[in-house]
Amino acid sequence: MKPAKVTIICIPILVSLTLIAVGFYYVNLSKSGEGAGLYSRDWTPEAIFAYWNPDDFYQSPKSVTGIFTGKDCISCHQSVTPGIVNDWQASRHSKVDKKVYCNDCHGSNHEDLHLPTPSVCSNCHSIQHTQFENEKRYGFPSHALAMQRALNAKHFVDKPKAEVSACLQCHSVATKCDSCHSRHKFSAAEARRPEACITCHSGPPHPDDETYFNSAHGQLYLKEGENWDWSKPLKKGNYPAPTCAYCHMNEGKHQVADKSLWKFGIKQVNPLSSANEIKRNQWIKLCSECHQADWSAQQLKAMDKERKLAWNKLYKAEAILKDLRASNNIYPAIEQRPAYPGDTQHSLFKRERIGFFEGQASAFYNVSAIERDYFEMWYFNNLAAYKGSAHGDPSFVKQGHKDMDISLEKIKQKAEKLHASDKTLIDSNMHNKIWLEGEYTDFNRVNNQGTSD
Ligand code: HEC
Ligand code: HEC
Ligand code: HEC
Ligand code: HEC
Ligand code: HEC
Ligand code: HEC
Ligand code: HEC
Ligand code: HEC
Repeated sequence: MKPAKVTIICIPILVSLTLIAVGFYYVNLSKSGEGAGLYSRDWTPEAIFAYWNPDDFYQSPKSVTGIFTGKDCISCHQSVTPGIVNDWQASRHSKVDKKVYCNDCHGSNHEDLHLPTPSVCSNCHSIQHTQFENEKRYGFPSHALAMQRALNAKHFVDKPKAEVSACLQCHSVATKCDSCHSRHKFSAAEARRPEACITCHSGPPHPDDETYFNSAHGQLYLKEGENWDWSKPLKKGNYPAPTCAYCHMNEGKHQVADKSLWKFGIKQVNPLSSANEIKRNQWIKLCSECHQADWSAQQLKAMDKERKLAWNKLYKAEAILKDLRASNNIYPAIEQRPAYPGDTQHSLFKRERIGFFEGQASAFYNVSAIERDYFEMWYFNNLAAYKGSAHGDPSFVKQGHKDMDISLEKIKQKAEKLHASDKTLIDSNMHNKIWLEGEYTDFNRVNNQGTSD
């Protein structure tokens, strides 16, 4: 081969190798801080995170020393934490022949205690743990991936610490098994009821609580639920109307992701793909435990129709924003806004990001007013309508669509003004006042950064 040819082949290879090395270096660097996840360097953990995410943050106290038997734990903790001992005594764990003692979950050495993660429960409950782990195959959203999803979300570091601490409380559904059967009763009956889910599944952008209780199913639960026998497993014939877990964890399957067609409703999917046909049939089979199969299929089709209509509206709004971007009419323009705290990538490659495919995090704050309008339309109005149609609550469908129409109109009107605006009248320092010197940005700069800053 001629030397010139060798050079032509070698240069791209060398460049790619260097880029890969730089990529690895960058990812490792950003993970090297006191926090956890992709943006570890940009935040420091709160003490409570040790409980929500024990693998990353828990350290046993050293104030009590000794290696104890299960009975020792109980007798001392009867005075240290009587509530915990009472709950344990009321639980199945204390009633079986071979009792499951404190040390079976926390260890026996008091200087080296651990807070049990799902893998500790899996020592005795491998079926549930395997099903739970299996969710990862279906991507997000899922319980098993919830901690990762929160820690690796840009808005987790974008926003002030005070606002984001609670993320991990809900997203700890991935890192401990006491979310639905609370410690230390660990009751299956408790987990079957809708109250077990709504601590996390309520409010925008996921009004599962509201839409379920507005539905025919939720109303029946409210009227009669007190008299149902909650010791029965969630199987055909055992309950007159379904609860959250009846539908999403049918037959006790610890897997909430395998039937999901619309996946949270934040992006458009093809509801008729072959993978989704399999999921749809699982839904129809489930509804058919109490309804006609054809009738049930129609209900799901109605959801597809509602989704199509919603996406028609959302894409109209996205087109308006893209048009504004193309004609340089988004203001403050992207280069006039400071980068997101902790987001190096964004500071290097600045661009507006519109909707799901262009990037969700961008839409939370540090955006122009019209982009924020779209965010509200997409994340709040749209998702309210989605959960209304998923859960059989027409009032949320109606309100969600009404709000989307209002948002779209607002976006249209603002866009017209922006296209027509006379740029010479715009105060060129305005963006500084809003974004660089704003109360929110200052607070964030002081409160969310790691020690490296
Ligand atoms: C002699 C009394 C005594 C015995 C025996 C004892 N503990 Fe404790 N335990 C305590 C006290 C006191 C604390 C609070 C320690 C602190 O906050 O510094 C505690 C705290 C804990 C905590 C909470 C740790 C945290 O970080 O929040 C767990 C879990 C725990 N004990 C489990 C056990 C287990 C399991 C056993 C048996 C192997 C056991 N304890 C035996 C006195 C005892
Ligand atoms: C079946 C497993 C299991 C058993 C048995 C168990 N625990 Fe726990 N315990 C947990 C889980 C799960 C948590 C929550 C961990 C977290 O927050 O990350 C916890 C948390 C705790 C905590 C700290 C949180 C709090 O609420 O104060 C203490 C203290 C504690 N356990 C004490 C005990 C004692 C004492 C016993 C025996 C009576 C016991 N545990 C038995 C699973 C268990
Ligand atoms: C050392 C073994 C062991 C460990 C570790 C263990 N369990 Fe259990 N668990 C049992 C046994 C045994 C039963 C009773 C099974 C039965 O009733 O047949 C049980 C029952 C249960 C039940 C059913 C209770 C009911 O109301 O019917 C739940 C829920 C449960 N465990 C959750 C957990 C969770 C969550 C963890 C981890 C924090 C855990 N267990 C850790 C052995 C264990
Ligand atoms: C401790 C908080 C918490 C509790 C309690 C909880 N969840 Fe979740 N759930 C989450 C989080 C967080 C996610 C989204 C995780 C992510 O980022 O992917 C989620 C996601 C889901 C999904 C979406 C799965 C998909 O693939 O679309 C379903 C369905 C679900 N949960 C059902 C339930 C049901 C049913 C219950 C009660 C039996 C329940 N959850 C209890 C926090 C919780
Ligand atoms: C009240 C409980 C709760 C809090 C607080 C919470 N989440 Fe969630 N989060 C959920 C639930 C529930 C879902 C799943 C919704 C669904 O599937 O309908 C979810 C979904 C998600 C998803 C998956 C969807 C996506 O966009 O990729 C991410 C990422 C996420 N949350 C990040 C966060 C971050 C970051 C915070 C803090 C700013 C946070 N969450 C606060 C409960 C919560
Ligand atoms: C999203 C809510 C939720 C989470 C998280 C959850 N469970 Fe459950 N669990 C349930 C429900 C609902 C039932 C009752 C199922 C039924 O009726 O068949 C249950 C029942 C159980 C049972 C009793 C099974 C039986 O047949 O009696 C065990 C054991 C159990 N769970 C262990 C676990 C373990 C281990 C984890 C963590 C990997 C976990 N659970 C996390 C909701 C949950
Ligand atoms: C009658 C059965 C039923 C009941 C009861 C029910 N859901 Fe749902 N849920 C659905 C269906 C159907 C969907 C749409 C799923 C899809 O698109 O595949 C859904 C969607 C969801 C999603 C979004 C997951 C996704 O795939 O987009 C979450 C989270 C959720 N439900 C949680 C709950 C919670 C929490 C409760 C109780 C407060 C509840 N559900 C009650 C049937 C039910
Ligand atoms: C455990 C039984 C059970 C299951 C499973 C169940 N439902 Fe229902 N559903 C009922 C009952 C009972 C009613 C109330 C009937 C009435 O009002 O006459 C109802 C009512 C409804 C209604 C309101 C109907 C109307 O005419 O107003 C809708 C919509 C609905 N269900 C959809 C579904 C869908 C979709 C599924 C599956 C995702 C499903 N249901 C699963 C028991 C069930």
